[in-house]
Amino acid sequence: MNPKVMVVCGTRPDAIKVAPVVLRLKESRDIDTMLLVSGQHREMLTQALQDFGIAPDFDLQVMRHGQTLAYITSATLTALDESLEQSQPDMVVAQGDTTTTFVAALAAFYRSIPFAHIEAGLRTETIDSPFPEEFNRRATAQIAKIHFAPTKLALENLLAERINRNDIVLSGNTSIDAIQGVAAGVDSANVGRVGRTILVTTHRRENWGEPQRRICHAIKELIDRFPDINVVLPMHRNEAVRDVLRSELSNVDRVELIEPPGYKEFAGYMRSAYLILSDSGGVQEEAPALGIPVLVLRNETERPEGIDAGNALLVGTDPQRIIMEASLLLTDSKRYAAMSRASNPYGDGLAAQRIVSAIRKWFGLPFDAIPEFRG
Ligand code: UD1
Ligand code: UDP
Repeated sequence: MNPKVMVVCGTRPDAIKVAPVVLRLKESRDIDTMLLVSGQHREMLTQALQDFGIAPDFDLQVMRHGQTLAYITSATLTALDESLEQSQPDMVVAQGDTTTTFVAALAAFYRSIPFAHIEAGLRTETIDSPFPEEFNRRATAQIAKIHFAPTKLALENLLAERINRNDIVLSGNTSIDAIQGVAAGVDSANVGRVGRTILVTTHRRENWGEPQRRICHAIKELIDRFPDINVVLPMHRNEAVRDVLRSELSNVDRVELIEPPGYKEFAGYMRSAYLILSDSGGVQEEAPALGIPVLVLRNETERPEGIDAGNALLVGTDPQRIIMEASLLLTDSKRYAAMSRASNPYGDGLAAQRIVSAIRKWFGLPFDAIPEFRG
């Protein structure tokens, strides 16, 4: 009988980052691959999977507007446990640090099913920042039997937590597989816009409310100072985020608040942006690969590699700092050129191959021995 692997995802970034693995696993005829979505996100998750031509086998449909962390955790845990009982997978796989991922690990643990963690080992100094993601990934690491570390730093973080080196694969991040796969084929999304576009995304819990207002103030000031710029802001579907963005920016000239585009279209927006301002984790990984400078709207990041590579700068949410750094990039061509040199500190596009090879090895199936990511 073929081993059964259940891949679990719940949110937009989960979907984008597991997609390359799901597609490659499905090429393995000697593994039965199932995709289960918690539905922690609804439209944004469906949209992301559609861009990869993937449909889930199971959908727990847990999303509610205004959902709490306790609700997502308990609803997903109960429903996922029933699915595990019915499907009896031999391995559960999930990525990153969302509540769905933590719960997938916990549910697998309760049923003594081996859990494999994609994008393992990202860390900040404090367990409550980013909240609750830092807890989610630390707790998930306690359970995982295989840890797919995207970078050398992530690998070192895991070793420092006494995870056995033999249980870690330095795979690179699957986000780079995804962006390399789609970016080549996407058109610039800048049709009809005149001047330089600043692409902005903000959704992090830490930035809800006042910090997001400060980001909006910085955007308004930049619009006033630079007549040749326009701002495109795809709004996350969370109403708490949208309320602030709409109240601050709906009537501002040259600022477009748009519905969140699908992954391919969003890649087009990234490619055609002059500059990106974002508090997103995934965007911090993709922007360097596309050679677009990114100002990170956070006080702390678990992804320092893009900063070390010179593509990203941590600016927080102080409007003066955002305005200063963005203004420099809009006026200083040398600085801009230095930050827009494409680099790939997060992966080389082979992460999914390495991950599937390791899963095949786990089950004693023939596998391709691919050297680890060197980044
Ligand atoms: C979640 C993750 C966060 C990740 C982010 C990516 C947790 C705790 N948080 O945060 O790590 O960075 O996803 O985007 O796992 N909504 C919709 N439709 C959708 C998606 C969301 O309407 O397709 C609305 C719902 O009202 C929902 C709210 O957004 O209640 C918040 O969603 P939730 O997953 O709880 O939090 P995010 O901020 O999206
Ligand atoms: N993304 C997208 N549409 C958008 C904004 C982002 O497809 O409107 C993609 C982006 O390219 C990246 C991922 O979604 O791959 C990041 O998701 P998000 O910012 O929601 O979550 P995070 O990475 O911060 O957890």
